[in-house]
Amino acid sequence: MKNLERDFLQGLETVLGKPNPFIPLHEPEFTGNEWERVKDCLDSTFVSSVGKYVDRFEVLLAEYTGAKYAIAVVNGTAALHIALLLAGVGPGDEVLIPALSFVATANAVAHCGAIPHFIDSEIETLGVDAEALRTYLKNCAIVDANGLINRFTKRRIAALVPMHSYGHPVNMTSLLDVAKDYNLPIVEDAAESLGSTYCGQHTGTFGQLGIVSFNGNKVITTGGGGVILTNDEEVAQQAKHLTTTAKLPHRWEFFHDRVAWNYRLPNLNAALGCAQIEQLPDFLRRKRLLAEQYQKVFQDIDGINLVSEPKYCKSNYWLNTLRLEKPSFEMRDRLLTIANDSGYQCRPTWNLLHKLPMYADCPRAPLPVAEQLEASLINIPSSAKFARG
Ligand SMILES: Cc1ncc(COP(=O)(O)O)c(C=O)c1O
Repeated sequence: MKNLERDFLQGLETVLGKPNPFIPLHEPEFTGNEWERVKDCLDSTFVSSVGKYVDRFEVLLAEYTGAKYAIAVVNGTAALHIALLLAGVGPGDEVLIPALSFVATANAVAHCGAIPHFIDSEIETLGVDAEALRTYLKNCAIVDANGLINRFTKRRIAALVPMHSYGHPVNMTSLLDVAKDYNLPIVEDAAESLGSTYCGQHTGTFGQLGIVSFNGNKVITTGGGGVILTNDEEVAQQAKHLTTTAKLPHRWEFFHDRVAWNYRLPNLNAALGCAQIEQLPDFLRRKRLLAEQYQKVFQDIDGINLVSEPKYCKSNYWLNTLRLEKPSFEMRDRLLTIANDSGYQCRPTWNLLHKLPMYADCPRAPLPVAEQLEASLINIPSSAKFARG
Protein backbone atom coordinates (compact mmCIF):
# COMPACT_ATOMS: atom_id res chain seq x y z
CA MET A 1 0.00 0.00 0.00
CA LYS A 2 1.40 3.44 -0.94
CA ASN A 3 1.62 6.34 1.56
CA LEU A 4 -1.52 8.18 0.53
CA GLU A 5 -3.64 5.04 0.55
CA ARG A 6 -2.32 4.06 3.98
CA ASP A 7 -2.80 7.60 5.41
CA PHE A 8 -6.30 7.86 3.96
CA LEU A 9 -7.41 4.58 5.50
CA GLN A 10 -5.73 5.45 8.79
CA GLY A 11 -7.54 8.84 8.77
CA LEU A 12 -10.92 7.16 8.33
CA GLU A 13 -10.16 4.72 11.11
CA THR A 14 -9.01 7.45 13.52
CA VAL A 15 -12.29 9.33 13.12
CA LEU A 16 -14.77 6.51 12.61
CA GLY A 17 -13.22 3.52 14.35
CA LYS A 18 -13.16 0.08 12.74
CA PRO A 19 -16.21 -0.87 10.64
CA ASN A 20 -18.30 -3.64 12.11
CA PRO A 21 -18.65 -4.71 9.39
CA PHE A 22 -19.69 -1.65 7.35
CA ILE A 23 -20.03 2.14 7.81
CA PRO A 24 -22.48 3.70 5.35
CA LEU A 25 -21.98 7.09 3.75
CA HIS A 26 -24.95 8.66 5.51
CA GLU A 27 -27.55 7.11 7.77
CA PRO A 28 -30.75 8.70 8.98
CA GLU A 29 -31.26 8.91 12.74
CA PHE A 30 -34.67 8.41 14.37
CA THR A 31 -33.93 9.11 18.01
CA GLY A 32 -36.52 11.83 18.66
CA ASN A 33 -40.30 11.85 18.40
CA GLU A 34 -40.46 10.00 15.06
CA TRP A 35 -42.34 6.90 16.27
CA GLU A 36 -44.81 8.97 18.27
CA ARG A 37 -45.61 11.39 15.42
CA VAL A 38 -45.93 8.65 12.79
CA LYS A 39 -48.17 6.60 15.10
CA ASP A 40 -50.32 9.66 15.76
CA CYS A 41 -50.62 10.14 12.00
CA LEU A 42 -51.65 6.49 11.49
CA ASP A 43 -54.16 6.72 14.35
CA SER A 44 -55.70 9.79 12.74
CA THR A 45 -56.17 7.85 9.43
CA PHE A 46 -55.00 10.99 7.60
CA VAL A 47 -52.02 9.36 5.93
CA SER A 48 -52.33 10.95 2.50
CA SER A 49 -52.05 14.45 1.11
CA VAL A 50 -54.35 16.15 3.65
CA GLY A 51 -53.58 16.44 7.35
CA LYS A 52 -52.19 18.52 10.15
CA TYR A 53 -48.60 17.31 9.78
CA VAL A 54 -48.16 18.44 6.21
CA ASP A 55 -49.40 21.93 7.12
CA ARG A 56 -47.28 21.95 10.27
CA PHE A 57 -44.16 20.80 8.41
CA GLU A 58 -44.58 23.66 5.95
CA VAL A 59 -44.83 26.19 8.78
CA LEU A 60 -41.72 24.76 10.46
CA LEU A 61 -39.77 24.85 7.19
CA ALA A 62 -40.74 28.44 6.48
CA GLU A 63 -39.78 29.43 10.03
CA TYR A 64 -36.48 27.58 9.87
CA THR A 65 -35.34 28.82 6.47
CA GLY A 66 -36.81 32.30 6.71
CA ALA A 67 -38.70 31.82 3.42
CA LYS A 68 -42.15 33.37 3.50
CA TYR A 69 -43.74 30.29 1.95
CA ALA A 70 -42.88 26.59 1.93
CA ILE A 71 -44.82 24.06 -0.18
CA ALA A 72 -44.10 20.44 0.74
CA VAL A 73 -43.93 17.94 -2.13
CA VAL A 74 -43.07 14.29 -2.79
CA ASN A 75 -39.36 14.76 -3.49
CA GLY A 76 -36.71 17.28 -4.43
CA THR A 77 -36.89 16.48 -8.14
CA ALA A 78 -40.62 17.24 -8.21
CA ALA A 79 -39.94 20.43 -6.26
CA LEU A 80 -37.34 21.52 -8.82
CA HIS A 81 -39.60 20.62 -11.73
CA ILE A 82 -42.41 22.85 -10.46
CA ALA A 83 -40.03 25.61 -9.34
CA LEU A 84 -38.58 25.78 -12.87
CA LEU A 85 -42.05 25.92 -14.44
CA LEU A 86 -42.99 28.75 -12.09
CA ALA A 87 -39.78 30.60 -12.95
CA GLY A 88 -41.05 30.61 -16.54
CA VAL A 89 -39.08 27.70 -18.02
CA GLY A 90 -40.91 26.10 -20.93
CA PRO A 91 -40.40 23.63 -23.79
CA GLY A 92 -37.40 24.47 -25.97
CA ASP A 93 -35.78 26.80 -23.43
CA GLU A 94 -32.27 26.28 -22.09
CA VAL A 95 -31.47 26.35 -18.38
CA LEU A 96 -27.96 26.99 -17.03
CA ILE A 97 -26.98 24.31 -14.53
CA PRO A 98 -23.65 23.08 -13.18
CA ALA A 99 -22.22 20.05 -14.98
CA LEU A 100 -21.11 18.93 -11.52
CA SER A 101 -24.44 18.01 -9.93
CA PHE A 102 -26.67 15.08 -9.19
CA VAL A 103 -28.67 13.96 -12.23
CA ALA A 104 -31.95 15.27 -10.74
CA THR A 105 -30.91 18.86 -11.50
CA ALA A 106 -30.79 18.07 -15.23
CA ASN A 107 -33.80 15.75 -15.10
CA ALA A 108 -36.01 18.48 -13.64
CA VAL A 109 -35.02 20.73 -16.55
CA ALA A 110 -35.82 17.94 -19.02
CA HIS A 111 -39.20 17.33 -17.32
CA CYS A 112 -40.10 20.90 -18.36
CA GLY A 113 -39.29 20.05 -21.99
CA ALA A 114 -36.24 22.30 -21.64
CA ILE A 115 -32.56 21.64 -22.30
CA PRO A 116 -29.79 21.72 -19.69
CA HIS A 117 -26.91 24.03 -20.60
CA PHE A 118 -23.89 23.02 -18.54
CA ILE A 119 -21.60 25.51 -16.83
CA ASP A 120 -18.41 25.25 -14.80
CA SER A 121 -17.82 25.15 -11.06
CA GLU A 122 -15.18 26.69 -8.82
CA ILE A 123 -12.65 24.83 -6.68
CA GLU A 124 -13.47 26.56 -3.41
CA THR A 125 -17.26 26.18 -3.23
CA LEU A 126 -17.67 23.27 -5.71
CA GLY A 127 -20.60 25.33 -7.08
CA VAL A 128 -21.20 27.50 -10.14
CA ASP A 129 -18.32 29.87 -10.91
CA ALA A 130 -20.00 33.27 -11.35
CA GLU A 131 -17.05 34.96 -13.05
CA ALA A 132 -16.53 32.12 -15.53
CA LEU A 133 -20.27 32.27 -16.24
CA ARG A 134 -20.14 36.01 -16.88
CA THR A 135 -17.26 35.62 -19.33
CA TYR A 136 -18.99 32.72 -21.03
CA LEU A 137 -22.31 34.53 -21.44
CA LYS A 138 -20.53 37.51 -23.01
CA ASN A 139 -19.45 35.23 -25.85
CA CYS A 140 -22.30 32.80 -26.06
CA ALA A 141 -25.44 34.86 -25.48
CA ILE A 142 -27.16 38.00 -26.66
CA VAL A 143 -30.05 39.89 -25.15
CA ASP A 144 -32.98 40.64 -27.46
CA ALA A 145 -36.69 41.36 -27.07
CA ASN A 146 -37.34 37.71 -26.17
CA GLY A 147 -34.75 37.68 -23.39
CA LEU A 148 -31.34 36.06 -23.24
CA ILE A 149 -30.67 34.05 -26.39
CA ASN A 150 -28.00 31.44 -27.00
CA ARG A 151 -26.24 32.83 -30.08
CA PHE A 152 -25.45 29.36 -31.41
CA THR A 153 -28.62 27.36 -30.75
CA LYS A 154 -30.96 30.40 -31.00
CA ARG A 155 -32.83 29.09 -27.98
CA ARG A 156 -33.87 31.26 -25.04
CA ILE A 157 -31.83 30.84 -21.86
CA ALA A 158 -34.63 30.97 -19.32
CA ALA A 159 -33.08 30.43 -15.87
CA LEU A 160 -29.97 29.77 -13.82
CA VAL A 161 -29.85 26.95 -11.26
CA PRO A 162 -27.01 27.19 -8.74
CA MET A 163 -26.59 24.09 -6.57
CA HIS A 164 -25.02 24.05 -3.10
CA SER A 165 -22.83 20.96 -3.38
CA TYR A 166 -22.72 18.65 -0.38
CA GLY A 167 -24.11 21.52 1.70
CA HIS A 168 -21.42 24.13 0.86
CA PRO A 169 -23.06 27.38 -0.22
CA VAL A 170 -22.25 28.87 -3.62
CA ASN A 171 -21.07 32.48 -3.89
CA MET A 172 -24.58 33.93 -4.11
CA THR A 173 -23.55 37.61 -4.20
CA SER A 174 -21.66 37.20 -7.48
CA LEU A 175 -24.30 34.93 -8.98
CA LEU A 176 -27.10 37.33 -8.12
CA ASP A 177 -25.09 40.08 -9.88
CA VAL A 178 -24.74 38.01 -13.07
CA ALA A 179 -28.41 37.01 -12.94
CA LYS A 180 -29.43 40.64 -12.51
CA ASP A 181 -27.26 41.83 -15.39
CA TYR A 182 -28.79 39.24 -17.71
CA ASN A 183 -32.29 39.41 -16.25
CA LEU A 184 -32.20 35.69 -15.50
CA PRO A 185 -34.41 34.16 -12.81
CA ILE A 186 -32.51 32.07 -10.26
CA VAL A 187 -33.94 28.79 -9.01
CA GLU A 188 -31.70 27.46 -6.25
CA ASP A 189 -31.15 23.74 -6.01
CA ALA A 190 -30.64 23.59 -2.24
CA ALA A 191 -31.54 19.89 -2.18
CA GLU A 192 -28.42 19.14 -0.11
CA SER A 193 -28.15 22.27 1.99
CA LEU A 194 -30.86 22.42 4.63
CA GLY A 195 -29.18 24.22 7.52
CA SER A 196 -26.54 25.95 5.36
CA THR A 197 -26.39 29.73 5.21
CA TYR A 198 -24.64 32.30 3.07
CA CYS A 199 -23.94 35.61 4.87
CA GLY A 200 -26.46 34.53 7.50
CA GLN A 201 -29.27 33.87 5.03
CA HIS A 202 -30.54 30.34 4.43
CA THR A 203 -29.66 28.74 1.11
CA GLY A 204 -32.67 28.31 -1.16
CA THR A 205 -34.08 31.73 -0.26
CA PHE A 206 -31.98 33.95 -2.56
CA GLY A 207 -33.55 33.11 -5.90
CA GLN A 208 -37.14 33.56 -7.07
CA LEU A 209 -37.61 30.00 -5.88
CA GLY A 210 -35.52 27.38 -4.12
CA ILE A 211 -35.93 23.73 -3.30
CA VAL A 212 -34.74 21.28 -0.63
CA SER A 213 -34.80 17.46 -0.59
CA PHE A 214 -35.68 15.21 2.35
CA ASN A 215 -34.54 11.97 0.76
CA GLY A 216 -33.34 9.26 3.17
CA ASN A 217 -29.71 10.28 2.69
CA LYS A 218 -30.18 13.98 3.53
CA VAL A 219 -29.60 15.92 6.77
CA ILE A 220 -33.22 15.28 7.77
CA THR A 221 -35.55 12.90 6.03
CA THR A 222 -39.23 12.31 5.41
CA GLY A 223 -38.50 9.00 3.66
CA GLY A 224 -38.94 10.80 0.37
CA GLY A 225 -39.88 14.44 0.23
CA GLY A 226 -39.02 17.95 -0.82
CA VAL A 227 -40.09 21.53 -0.45
CA ILE A 228 -40.44 24.56 -2.69
CA LEU A 229 -39.41 27.82 -1.02
CA THR A 230 -40.42 31.29 -2.18
CA ASN A 231 -41.10 34.76 -0.83
CA ASP A 232 -43.71 35.50 -3.49
CA GLU A 233 -47.30 34.89 -2.42
CA GLU A 234 -48.66 34.47 -5.94
CA VAL A 235 -45.88 32.00 -6.82
CA ALA A 236 -46.55 30.08 -3.60
CA GLN A 237 -50.25 29.79 -4.45
CA GLN A 238 -49.40 28.55 -7.92
CA ALA A 239 -46.91 26.06 -6.47
CA LYS A 240 -49.60 24.63 -4.18
CA HIS A 241 -52.13 24.57 -7.04
CA LEU A 242 -49.82 22.85 -9.53
CA THR A 243 -48.70 20.23 -7.02
CA THR A 244 -52.25 19.34 -5.95
CA THR A 245 -53.80 18.49 -9.37
CA ALA A 246 -54.96 22.11 -9.89
CA LYS A 247 -58.21 21.37 -8.10
CA LEU A 248 -60.30 24.38 -7.22
CA PRO A 249 -61.31 24.29 -3.55
CA HIS A 250 -64.87 23.02 -3.12
CA ARG A 251 -66.59 20.71 -0.63
CA TRP A 252 -67.41 18.07 -3.24
CA GLU A 253 -66.79 19.22 -6.82
CA PHE A 254 -63.89 17.85 -8.84
CA PHE A 255 -63.08 20.88 -10.91
CA HIS A 256 -59.47 21.14 -12.10
CA ASP A 257 -58.53 24.17 -14.18
CA ARG A 258 -55.37 22.88 -15.93
CA VAL A 259 -53.13 19.87 -16.44
CA ALA A 260 -51.19 19.54 -13.20
CA TRP A 261 -49.37 17.13 -10.88
CA ASN A 262 -50.09 15.01 -7.83
CA TYR A 263 -46.88 16.02 -6.06
CA ARG A 264 -48.20 16.87 -2.57
CA LEU A 265 -46.16 15.39 0.30
CA PRO A 266 -48.29 12.80 2.16
CA ASN A 267 -49.16 13.56 5.78
CA LEU A 268 -47.42 10.33 6.85
CA ASN A 269 -44.09 11.53 5.47
CA ALA A 270 -44.67 14.99 6.92
CA ALA A 271 -45.23 13.45 10.39
CA LEU A 272 -41.71 12.02 10.16
CA GLY A 273 -40.46 15.40 8.92
CA CYS A 274 -41.98 17.25 11.91
CA ALA A 275 -40.08 14.99 14.29
CA GLN A 276 -36.86 15.23 12.26
CA ILE A 277 -36.80 19.01 12.03
CA GLU A 278 -36.97 19.23 15.83
CA GLN A 279 -33.61 17.48 15.84
CA LEU A 280 -32.01 19.49 13.06
CA PRO A 281 -29.98 21.86 15.30
CA ASP A 282 -28.47 18.88 17.12
CA PHE A 283 -27.76 17.02 13.85
CA LEU A 284 -26.01 20.13 12.52
CA ARG A 285 -23.98 20.59 15.70
CA ARG A 286 -22.72 17.02 15.56
CA LYS A 287 -22.07 17.08 11.80
CA ARG A 288 -19.91 20.18 12.28
CA LEU A 289 -18.02 18.40 15.04
CA LEU A 290 -17.44 15.41 12.78
CA ALA A 291 -16.13 17.74 10.04
CA GLU A 292 -13.73 19.28 12.58
CA GLN A 293 -12.50 15.83 13.55
CA TYR A 294 -11.89 14.94 9.90
CA GLN A 295 -10.18 18.30 9.39
CA LYS A 296 -7.76 17.62 12.27
CA VAL A 297 -6.80 14.26 10.85
CA PHE A 298 -6.59 15.12 7.14
CA GLN A 299 -4.83 18.50 7.44
CA ASP A 300 -1.54 16.70 8.05
CA ILE A 301 -1.87 14.33 5.13
CA ASP A 302 -0.07 15.41 1.98
CA GLY A 303 -1.97 15.13 -1.26
CA ILE A 304 -5.50 15.32 0.09
CA ASN A 305 -7.67 18.10 1.63
CA LEU A 306 -11.02 18.19 3.32
CA VAL A 307 -13.39 20.60 1.56
CA SER A 308 -14.46 23.14 4.17
CA GLU A 309 -17.12 25.81 4.26
CA PRO A 310 -16.44 28.83 2.07
CA LYS A 311 -15.92 32.29 3.62
CA TYR A 312 -19.06 34.02 4.93
CA CYS A 313 -20.88 30.69 4.94
CA LYS A 314 -22.07 28.12 7.36
CA SER A 315 -22.22 24.70 5.81
CA ASN A 316 -24.39 21.87 7.07
CA TYR A 317 -21.49 19.51 6.22
CA TRP A 318 -24.03 17.12 4.75
CA LEU A 319 -21.39 14.92 3.10
CA ASN A 320 -17.78 15.40 4.07
CA THR A 321 -15.68 15.54 0.94
CA LEU A 322 -11.99 15.02 0.33
CA ARG A 323 -10.24 16.57 -2.63
CA LEU A 324 -7.08 15.12 -4.14
CA GLU A 325 -4.52 17.88 -4.68
CA LYS A 326 -3.57 16.24 -7.98
CA PRO A 327 -6.71 15.18 -9.83
CA SER A 328 -6.38 11.55 -10.87
CA PHE A 329 -9.12 9.05 -11.68
CA GLU A 330 -6.63 6.30 -11.04
CA MET A 331 -5.70 7.46 -7.53
CA ARG A 332 -9.32 8.36 -6.74
CA ASP A 333 -10.44 4.85 -7.68
CA ARG A 334 -7.59 3.24 -5.75
CA LEU A 335 -8.67 5.12 -2.60
CA LEU A 336 -12.31 4.24 -3.22
CA THR A 337 -11.40 0.59 -3.60
CA ILE A 338 -9.39 0.29 -0.40
CA ALA A 339 -11.96 2.25 1.64
CA ASN A 340 -14.93 0.24 0.38
CA ASP A 341 -13.00 -3.04 0.70
CA SER A 342 -12.28 -2.10 4.32
CA GLY A 343 -15.94 -1.41 5.13
CA TYR A 344 -16.03 2.41 4.82
CA GLN A 345 -18.59 3.38 2.21
CA CYS A 346 -16.95 6.12 0.16
CA ARG A 347 -18.12 7.47 -3.18
CA PRO A 348 -16.73 9.58 -5.98
CA THR A 349 -18.55 12.75 -6.94
CA TRP A 350 -21.14 12.45 -9.71
CA ASN A 351 -20.14 11.68 -13.29
CA LEU A 352 -20.34 15.07 -14.99
CA LEU A 353 -23.83 15.42 -16.42
CA HIS A 354 -22.75 16.06 -20.02
CA LYS A 355 -21.13 12.61 -19.98
CA LEU A 356 -24.47 10.88 -19.42
CA PRO A 357 -25.98 9.58 -22.67
CA MET A 358 -29.22 11.58 -22.50
CA TYR A 359 -27.37 14.87 -21.94
CA ALA A 360 -24.34 14.31 -24.18
CA ASP A 361 -25.58 16.65 -26.91
CA CYS A 362 -26.60 19.52 -24.64
CA PRO A 363 -24.80 22.85 -24.93
CA ARG A 364 -21.97 23.45 -22.52
CA ALA A 365 -19.38 25.98 -21.47
CA PRO A 366 -15.72 24.99 -21.10
CA LEU A 367 -15.65 22.85 -17.95
CA PRO A 368 -12.00 22.71 -16.82
CA VAL A 369 -12.70 22.95 -13.11
CA ALA A 370 -15.63 20.54 -13.11
CA GLU A 371 -13.37 18.06 -14.97
CA GLN A 372 -10.70 18.44 -12.28
CA LEU A 373 -13.20 18.06 -9.49
CA GLU A 374 -14.66 14.94 -11.06
CA ALA A 375 -11.22 13.31 -10.85
CA SER A 376 -10.51 14.48 -7.31
CA LEU A 377 -13.57 14.41 -5.03
CA ILE A 378 -14.35 11.59 -2.64
CA ASN A 379 -17.28 11.59 -0.21
CA ILE A 380 -16.57 9.94 3.12
CA PRO A 381 -18.94 8.66 5.84
CA SER A 382 -20.79 11.59 7.37
CA SER A 383 -23.51 10.40 9.74
CA ALA A 384 -23.83 12.71 12.76
CA LYS A 385 -23.53 9.75 15.12
CA PHE A 386 -19.80 9.45 14.39
CA ALA A 387 -19.04 12.83 16.02
CA ARG A 388 -17.32 12.53 19.38
CA GLY A 389 -18.30 14.99 22.07
C1 LIG B 1 -28.36 18.35 -6.08
C2 LIG B 1 -29.64 17.59 -5.98
N1 LIG B 1 -30.71 18.03 -6.66
C3 LIG B 1 -31.88 17.41 -6.59
C4 LIG B 1 -32.04 16.26 -5.84
C5 LIG B 1 -33.34 15.57 -5.90
O1 LIG B 1 -33.92 15.27 -4.69
P1 LIG B 1 -34.81 13.96 -4.52
O2 LIG B 1 -33.90 12.80 -4.43
O3 LIG B 1 -35.54 14.23 -3.25
O4 LIG B 1 -35.73 13.88 -5.71
C6 LIG B 1 -30.94 15.78 -5.10
C7 LIG B 1 -30.97 14.62 -4.24
O5 LIG B 1 -31.31 13.65 -4.07
C8 LIG B 1 -29.71 16.44 -5.19
O6 LIG B 1 -28.63 16.00 -4.52
